[in-house]
Order: sequence, then C-alpha cells, then structure tokens
Amino acid sequence: MKRIGVLTSGGDAPGMNCAIRAVVRTAIYHGLEVMGIERGYAGLIAGDAKQMDARSVGSILNRGGTILRTARSEEFRTPEGRARAAENIKRYLIEGLVVIGGDGTYRGAMHLAEEQGVPCVGVPGTIDNDIGGTDYTIGFDTAVNTALDAIDKIRDTAASHDRVFIVEVMGRGVGFIALSVGVAGGAEVVLVPETRSDMVAVCRQLETGRKAGKMSSIIVVAEGDETGGAVKVEEEIRKSTDFTDVRVCVLGHLQRGGAPTAYDRIMASRFGSEAVMALMRGEGNVMVASEKGEIATRPMSDSWTVKRELRPHLLELAKKLVV
Ligand code: F6P
Repeated sequence: MKRIGVLTSGGDAPGMNCAIRAVVRTAIYHGLEVMGIERGYAGLIAGDAKQMDARSVGSILNRGGTILRTARSEEFRTPEGRARAAENIKRYLIEGLVVIGGDGTYRGAMHLAEEQGVPCVGVPGTIDNDIGGTDYTIGFDTAVNTALDAIDKIRDTAASHDRVFIVEVMGRGVGFIALSVGVAGGAEVVLVPETRSDMVAVCRQLETGRKAGKMSSIIVVAEGDETGGAVKVEEEIRKSTDFTDVRVCVLGHLQRGGAPTAYDRIMASRFGSEAVMALMRGEGNVMVASEKGEIATRPMSDSWTVKRELRPHLLELAKKLVV
C-alpha cells in the first residue's frame, strides 16, 4: 500500500481534526502518502482531493470542526454516485480510505467496499456517542463539557430568580449527552429517548421539590425525547402546575463546536493512528473502536447492529441525588 485517503462525513465533532492529524502523520511515519478529501463523500464524487503533508496538519489539535469540511451526500447513497467516487479513488491512486464519522458514514463506506473493492476503515466521530460496537465516539466529552458549562451558568440565574429552566441538549435518538450533563450538572429531571418520559410525574416532582425547599429546578431534555423537546415540556408544566416562572434554553449546535478536551484529543489521536495501522494490516470494512479503554477493530456493521445502551446505574444516580 502506497497511498491512502481520509475524509470526514456527517455531523462534525470536536476532535475530528486530531483524528485527521493522526491519520496523516501515522501514514507518513510509515512511508505512505495521504490524500485529504474535502466535504466527505460529496468531495469524493467531485474529485476534490489534495495531497497532505505533515505540515498541513500542524496546529489543528486545538481547533473544533474539521479542516477537511464535511457534508451529507445524497448522490453517494446511489450505486451510480459510488461508482463515480470509485473512479476518483482510482484516478488519485488511493488504495485504502479512512472515513471519520457516524454510522451513516460507515454504511456508505461498506457499500463502497462491497461494490468497488475499496478497503475502508471507520473512525467513530459524533458528539452523540451513539455508535454501536464502540464505548466512545470523538467529540462526546467536549460536547458534554460545553453543555455543562452552559448549565452551570443557567443554574446561577435560575437560582437568583427562583425559576424552572428546561435545557435542551443534542441527541436526536439517544440521551447520552443529556444523562451525562444531567448527573454532572445536578439536574432535577433528565428526560431521554431511551426511557418513558412521564410529564405527570415530572410536574409532581417539581411541586414536591418546592414543598421541600427547592426554589429553582433544572430539567435537562434530549432533543429526541418523546415529549418533543424543551418547548413542549415548558407548555406542559405551565398547563399542569402553577409554576409561571419557567424558561427554556435550547443549546443546539454550540455543542458541536469548540476546542476539543484533552480526552477527545487523545482518543481521536489513538483512533486515527489505529485506522492507518488497520489498513496497513490489510483490514477493510472495519471501524476502530474503544473497548473498555483499549483500541480494537470491529466490523463496520456493528455500528448499526449493536445497540448502545445508557448505563442504568447512571440513570438511577440521576434520580437518587436530587431528593
Ligand atoms: O452530531 C449529531 C447531531 O448533533 C444530533 O444530535 C443532531 O440531531 C444532529 O446532529 C443535527 O445535525 P445537523 O443540524 O447537522 O443536521
């Protein structure tokens, strides 16, 4: 193997740049050339690629986002789109591809591998931490710390005004960010898609808390929770209780940006480097994964066949510590 490609695809996540740097520098260290593909699969189809050297990834460890930029490509979902991508892979003499992203990214890579015979290795990158087969995905720790910083600030103003605040965090289908910031930020209620959200019980809990002397409360809700998110929760509280001083804060995409934490930098560096080693060993159709702290490779299909579960003891803890 002489030359590999690297791209980022799907939603960006803090730490992706560290993974790109690790891919480029590990490859160069082992005598390989690296092509950086712009805007994920869209750039692969368009033939937007440039050779990267060790200096092209200098001073990016501390930068959020992805220097290769990212996109979601509809065309790549079709066999025709993937055939066009494969033509560019041949044209650029790329013999293996590192794809940094979530399970949607891997599904695309798997089709590319099966139809066009291009070995692909996935690197888990999404703030949601929802990729099956790995205990960790790049960006989660940073996103949790960003959301936690916001919740700490909201607590100041909530306590000053005796208010109920509902903070919505990201997580379209999962509650990993919500549960972590809920525990770390001492939220009175944490609402996640994985468990049934009972608004009658939530309203009762707020009232019981007030009787017990809690003058302010914070509810953390994952955007994908069945309640419909922070605005719906607020409506329900106003309708069903006499709490009138209720406020909503939707944190949104600010959770996707910012300098990666040390943990994300280290994990991304380990993942990125191992992805190159996997390609050099002749592995394809795999993703690098964290298994109890060790880096391993797993079949890409694990990302959608293995279900990631919220840790039940953390859910219990979230409830226990807010009496
Ligand atoms: O990165 C994952 C995620 O943040 C989800 O939690 C969220 O629903 C989604 O991406 C939003 O992404 P976009 O606005 O880029 O479609």
